[in-house]
Amino acid sequence: MNKNIVILGTQWGDEGKGKIVDYLTEMYNYVVRYQGGHNAGHTLVVNKKKIVLHLIPSGILHNHVICVLGNGVVISIIDLIKEIDMLSQLGIKLDKRLIISSHCPMILQYHVQIDLARELALGKDCIGTTGRGIGPAYEDKVSRLGLKIFDLYNMELFAKKLKRNVDYYNFQLVNYYKSSPVDYNNILTEVLKYRDCILEKVDDVPMLLQDAFCNKKHVIFEGAQGSLLDLDHGTFPYVTSSNSTIGGVFTGSGAHMKHINFVLGVVKSYCTRVGSGPFPTELKDDIGLHLCIKGKEIGSTTGRKRRTGWLDLVLLYRSIVLNSISSLCLTKLDVLDELPEIKVCIAYKINNVLVDNKKFFPFSNLENVQPVYITLPGWKKSTKGVTCLHDLPLEAKKYISYIEEYCGGNILVDIISTGPDRCETIVLDDLFKKKNI
Ligand code: IMP
Repeated sequence: MNKNIVILGTQWGDEGKGKIVDYLTEMYNYVVRYQGGHNAGHTLVVNKKKIVLHLIPSGILHNHVICVLGNGVVISIIDLIKEIDMLSQLGIKLDKRLIISSHCPMILQYHVQIDLARELALGKDCIGTTGRGIGPAYEDKVSRLGLKIFDLYNMELFAKKLKRNVDYYNFQLVNYYKSSPVDYNNILTEVLKYRDCILEKVDDVPMLLQDAFCNKKHVIFEGAQGSLLDLDHGTFPYVTSSNSTIGGVFTGSGAHMKHINFVLGVVKSYCTRVGSGPFPTELKDDIGLHLCIKGKEIGSTTGRKRRTGWLDLVLLYRSIVLNSISSLCLTKLDVLDELPEIKVCIAYKINNVLVDNKKFFPFSNLENVQPVYITLPGWKKSTKGVTCLHDLPLEAKKYISYIEEYCGGNILVDIISTGPDRCETIVLDDLFKKKNI
């Protein structure tokens, strides 16, 4: 019986998915990324050593695991090579453990330049992207003009398409954005330099996965970003350009719905967001600053300070529904340790009228909603590194129970993270042993 699981973020990303994927990978054979690119930042701490991965799946630290970049992932080959080199300097050998789908769209220099130029031109209305060229690369996929990894098999044609695209983007960069053009020869030279190293990792991912499923191998599908950054279901236009909700798994890897047994939603004990866009429970006071400092809420990709706020159960409920989440993993509980009281958003009001969020979600008016809070007592004791539920203070247990009750009582918190290290984890229900997985 396969025990395949999707692990995805239920908020605006940075929920701590990387640690949980790394933690659970012990029992798994494959870890598959299916969307996003090197805009993601998955931080892993093993034996106090911090490793940040942007593109390579978080299972790579386990020697038995094969890591896969599905067709939904946009790849900057230069940044992928940098990450491979970083791992090799740490003594982590990839050998044949990294597989790239031939259908991955490529991120090239002009995507980055356009991303940056657009953000600059938008000024205060900017999205606050990571500046990695993610949006423009996905646009090229949709327009069908972009280059994919399989284009590297025919460099003559590649060079021709590249020239066409460079001319198109340079026209925009120079004439519309009054910015500098990119250099065709430089891009081609860099691609040629890394081509062989990339092509030796290319495989037919849907067939590889089919083989894995048939051979009773176990697969983790690792989400990047979070559900509210989903292009179709998030807080548009302040979203990323891929599907970070469950649908992305299927279009972005070629896996079939029938192969997914479980969806683990990762939720931070409070909320954070990087970049622009509405954030109903945002705290711009000392508590917000405390969460930022204690939670080390600095973006691992761009180094930007994350915005912080109280846990928003209205948004969490929406994510549970959107992704058909089976159970939750609550992260960073220890960050709340010192607070005398903790607020949780349980509803929204617009113009003082309560919104029935189980029927309607006010996306178009999210800037103007007034969050309705309940206040729970804090625990004012350290939960850092706790590995057993019994050792949690009563108030912390009540906080967890409150979340479960709000979510209907049938979505339980199965894992709690009490620190960044692999070992700082409470497992309430061993997912791998669950009957329904
Ligand atoms: P892009 O993905 O670089 O286009 O950025 C679009 C939005 O998604 C911006 O608000 C980014 O800050 C946000 N974003 C992209 N990747 C991540 C992530 O891994 N964690 C949190 N936010 C992200």
